Amino acid sequence: MESNIHYVASGQFMVAADRQPLILKALLGTCVGVSVYDSVAGMGGLLHILLPEPVSGASDTHPGKYASTGVPAFLKALIEKGAHPDNMRATVAGGALVGPVSEQDMALDIGGRTAEKVHELLKRYNIPVSASETGGFFTCTLELDLNTGKNRICPSGLLRDPEEAFHYTAPSADAIAASVTGLKPIPQVALKILRMVTSEEADFKAIAAEVRKDQVITAQTLRMCNAALYSGRNQVASIDDALILLGQDTLIKSIISSALKTFYRQSDSVYSLCKGGLFHHAMGTAIVADQLAAHTGAAHRATAYTAGLLHDIGMVVLDQHITSACPLFYRGMKKENHRILEVEKRILGVDHCEVGAKLGLKWAFPENLIHAIRHHHRPEDGKAGDKLAYIVHAADLIMSRFQSGVFPESSRGSIADRLAVLGMGPSDFENFIDRLPMDVFSMQPETVLFKKT
Ligand SMILES: [Fe+2]
Ligand SMILES: [Fe+2]
Repeated sequence: MESNIHYVASGQFMVAADRQPLILKALLGTCVGVSVYDSVAGMGGLLHILLPEPVSGASDTHPGKYASTGVPAFLKALIEKGAHPDNMRATVAGGALVGPVSEQDMALDIGGRTAEKVHELLKRYNIPVSASETGGFFTCTLELDLNTGKNRICPSGLLRDPEEAFHYTAPSADAIAASVTGLKPIPQVALKILRMVTSEEADFKAIAAEVRKDQVITAQTLRMCNAALYSGRNQVASIDDALILLGQDTLIKSIISSALKTFYRQSDSVYSLCKGGLFHHAMGTAIVADQLAAHTGAAHRATAYTAGLLHDIGMVVLDQHITSACPLFYRGMKKENHRILEVEKRILGVDHCEVGAKLGLKWAFPENLIHAIRHHHRPEDGKAGDKLAYIVHAADLIMSRFQSGVFPESSRGSIADRLAVLGMGPSDFENFIDRLPMDVFSMQPETVLFKKT
């Protein structure tokens, strides 16, 4: 029987009491994955950790986020479900320094410190480690098969035989341009709202009037609010109800996010390892960019949010082309140290930043958004003093490292130098990550929008 796959999100763990046709899987970059299996009881689980220990000192409701609290909580849950410490065996993976790094970036080696802490704790609890592949510079996946108890650590990208003979013809510039016209565009009303939101003098009444005129946008917005807010009866039935319940800021964010959701969902293959992956990534980046803007004061919050949401729109265009070159793409990512822009350029002749900026021009996005889309991987190549691209870059970096390994950043320069532009040092950055709401890394990052703080 074919096993289903359950992705264990960052900061969470899952324990299963019985053998079953299910594979627990974690996508690991800087995060560390720990699987534990008791072969006598025939049960096990998987833990997906972000950080070595709490740095803010604040009590946290997510023990799985840290090695210091996650490992004990995970082992306790296993024992409660029937595992015995004498029979447990662990496998550890992840903790990589993703992307080319400078000496300064080594100071941010969160993954290395998390892996060290995990090993220290497993030793303290007398749990033997049967396999461990941590550190290095590549993302990987860790899998535990709950039927057989077998573990598998697989470097990202080796989804097919690397030596497989592969014939591929690069698409022409015309073919790529034509695919833009084949996409369902972002609705006009959403574009209008997007321009209003980022003009920094957004008139909410005018925005709400635009939304009320458009039944599709209204329905999409209400669907997103209801899915995140309620599972039961008390549904939000109108934009006016949503305004009372959510307030202006959150409602505006929900309107543009729900419009973009439909756009991102048109492509769900290579760039997105699981269904909806591109949108989750965009949404998470938007929320983190908004919070980075609030934390650093380096950009207008609504603009940072919108730029985060839009930064990878070029991938939606390129996805259909990269799909036919999938093995080449993954192999290139591995060989070329995850320099995604170089790999795209070599295989397709363009990269997703260029294509995204072209889409932005076509749809008359404000200039600062186009700039952020174009330079989100290499903000230092953009206009000096424009910090929006740096905000999006840092948010993208956090999401790619802690959500999964499928959106690796390309770094020629030093990450520490880029954070310094935003006035952030390594410890401030780590503190910022520590304070982020965990749901931002989940499969429904939008729930963060609707939580009152
Ligand atoms: Fe990107
Ligand atoms: Fe991204």
